[in-house]
Amino acid sequence: IRVIKLDETDSTNEYAKRIAPEVPEGTVVIAKRQTAGKGRKGRSWASPEGGLWMSVILKPQKVDPRLVFVGALAVADTLSDFGLAPGIKWPNDIWVAGKKIAGILAEGKADEYTVLGIGLNVNNPIPPELQRDAISMMELIGTPLPMDRVLERLLFHLNAWYRIFKERPDIMMAKVRERTFILGRTVRIVEDDNVLIGRAVDVLDDGSLLLDIDGQLRRILYGDVSLRI
Ligand code: BTN
Repeated sequence: IRVIKLDETDSTNEYAKRIAPEVPEGTVVIAKRQTAGKGRKGRSWASPEGGLWMSVILKPQKVDPRLVFVGALAVADTLSDFGLAPGIKWPNDIWVAGKKIAGILAEGKADEYTVLGIGLNVNNPIPPELQRDAISMMELIGTPLPMDRVLERLLFHLNAWYRIFKERPDIMMAKVRERTFILGRTVRIVEDDNVLIGRAVDVLDDGSLLLDIDGQLRRILYGDVSLRI
């Protein structure tokens, strides 16, 4: 695979979308710093040096909201390789020890490409206002991590989960279910202007979350993949 390493860019997702039409599937863009890192729902994503900020360009046959789980599972497996115990907060956050350590942002152009953006707190400092909710690998392990090894593990797992996604999405979803730590818990879900409170019951094979709201089962679609460029 081709890995494009940058010192700085606006956002690796934006960079990846700009080059996506001209590069082969699997091309990876990494930046030491992002000046306009993006989170979901238009939020900004603090991206100082020390974190792993990357985007991988995928060209699947068909756009699929479950692609976000390829990233989530790869990050979770990478964290496990370093002795941590991660969980997926459906659909696209990875948590360790009750705090967020990584997020995935999938964007793309229908049936042309999907850019899977991954932000993983490795050695970067967590700003004080986020310390209640966010954590880094360095903080958990107590020493800075070798970034090239973290990247090597992540690329390995991305490749493996992407293959499984294409061949046996049911097997991938079984692993998502196993790693999803919100099942059985009461959760609050904000859907546009709508707030839903219920018990998370299951993650279905199509990637949606099954919520029990006062005895009524409701399927929450994964709706965060933006197909607008
Ligand atoms: C979220 O949890 O809201 C998703 C965060 C995604 C952050 C990553 S960092 C690399 C890539 N480039 C971006 O601008 N965002 C993603």
